[in-house]
Amino acid sequence: MADDKVLFITGASTGIGAATAKAAAARGWKVALAARSADKLEALVGEIGSERALALTCNVARQEDVAQAIDAAATFGPIHAAFANAGCGIGTPGAEAGDPEEWRQILDVNVWGLLLTVKAALPHLRATKGHMLLTGSQAGRSHLAGSVYGASKWFVHGFGQNLALEMKEWGGRCTVIAPGMVDTPFFDEPKPGALTGEQVAAAAIYALEQPEGVNVREVYLTPTGR
Ligand SMILES: NC(=O)c1ccc[n+]([C@@H]2O[C@H](COP(=O)([O-])OP(=O)(O)OC[C@H]3O[C@@H](n4cnc5c(N)ncnc54)[C@H](OP(=O)(O)O)[C@@H]3O)[C@@H](O)[C@H]2O)c1
Repeated sequence: MADDKVLFITGASTGIGAATAKAAAARGWKVALAARSADKLEALVGEIGSERALALTCNVARQEDVAQAIDAAATFGPIHAAFANAGCGIGTPGAEAGDPEEWRQILDVNVWGLLLTVKAALPHLRATKGHMLLTGSQAGRSHLAGSVYGASKWFVHGFGQNLALEMKEWGGRCTVIAPGMVDTPFFDEPKPGALTGEQVAAAAIYALEQPEGVNVREVYLTPTGR
């Protein structure tokens, strides 16, 4: 069990982030929940309990938001882990048909927001010899025709392994969580046969609970059902 260690999670308002928050709180973590939707975060705090969960309204694409959220999380308890999980998809696929404004949003959240989260979290994780988790994707391990979303996840996979090497210098750990399709609000319609947020959360908990000296560099999980 994690005692009073804080896990900071971006994209915590729904889907994988919310499921990880609930699973981690049940395993004894305090969870600091960051996303833009204050109402959803407050509802989740109500569910988990305010002694274990803290809501932090934050747009990960804004450096000052992320810095403030991390500072607030650190007042909740020492940050032993951070999960850069916030991400968004794309409406119009393809390079030729795609919308540059959508590409900018994808890069702002999936790449820039992830980098800002890592940068803000690292001094805290260095102090605790802590753990960084990043949400990659099956789309970052395979090629999809014209996919800018997939390429944003290739960044996460490449950077995640580089970050693992940097954190190793001071005893920290870094894990890329790479799911195939997950049935979450990421999609407008249900995805029967896909993974659940809870199943991906279990993968994150598995990485977090490894004994000292073990770094799970990647968990790549896909549904058998589709
Ligand atoms: N679903 C899948 O099939 C799948 C597969 C592989 C990987 N992934 C990845 O898993 C991660 C979580 O996605 P999910 O499936 O759980 O979908 P989701 O339910 O739509 O969750 C996305 C989360 O990101 C947050 N978010 C989006 N833009 C943000 C911003 N600018 N600032 C702060 N938070 C922001 C959303 O909260 P607010 O809207 O409240 O800000 C929400 O909490 C993403 O990185 C996604 O790319 C998903």
